[in-house]
Amino acid sequence: MKKNIQTTSTHKKLNLFQDAEAASLFVAHQIAELIREKEKQAKPAVLGLATGNTPKGVYQELIRLHRNEGLSFKNVISFNLDEYYPILPDDQQSYTYFMRQYLFKHVDIKPEQTHIPHTDFSEEGIAQYCQDYEDKIQSLGGMDFQLLGIGRNGHIGFNEPGSDFESKTRLVNLDSLTREDAKAAFGSLDKVPEKAISVGVQTISKAKKILLLALGERKSEIMQQAINGEITTEVPASFLQSLSQAEFVLDASAARGLSS
Ligand code: GLP
Repeated sequence: MKKNIQTTSTHKKLNLFQDAEAASLFVAHQIAELIREKEKQAKPAVLGLATGNTPKGVYQELIRLHRNEGLSFKNVISFNLDEYYPILPDDQQSYTYFMRQYLFKHVDIKPEQTHIPHTDFSEEGIAQYCQDYEDKIQSLGGMDFQLLGIGRNGHIGFNEPGSDFESKTRLVNLDSLTREDAKAAFGSLDKVPEKAISVGVQTISKAKKILLLALGERKSEIMQQAINGEITTEVPASFLQSLSQAEFVLDASAARGLSS
């Protein structure tokens, strides 16, 4: 059921950059600063991480900072947003594989401190698995930082249009546009899973700091709706407008459609 939030005071904060590289560096440096700050306090930095093409530049810069500027990931505890269901962790399309390739194998993060939903088992037991994933995040005090991309239908994580703002980690059905966009990675539409495990909109909204990164022309239409449209479950990313700790980070192409 579609739900809207009526609010007169939204907290929209926009960070606009000339190109994808500048936007990615901005995000990477915020993450690095948080990691260093937590290290000084001898506390873990609990990071919510995302996959897709969008965060690749962020991870590249974090790897550079690790190699050249001594940034250590030893005190990082990470939770990924989502994973296709079912999929084997070693499949090249899995987010476990993605995170290994694009970040984890290049830095000193402790494997036991990384969390990505595992989905190579039958649906029986999934509800408990999701509850445990959610509980683990909350037992650490929630995410210190959440990195988000956005789907062309406005999804965050795999919270598709219609996802409740109170949703938590759960099994979800993938939207047809999401499956269409994943077709290239899987080779054909029938190979794209129909389901996924995703942390919920509420799980995301509890993070102490949230940055949604959107790059490129193909995100410009949905960014106009997410930033300037009504806050509605039909565009899950629009919920971020109501959160004071959430910011949008766009390159010039993704910002092209913004009317105000
Ligand atoms: C997938 C992921 C999302 C991601 C989105 C956009 O659906 N589950 O977390 O934000 O894709 O992907 P891309 O960055 O490749 O456009």
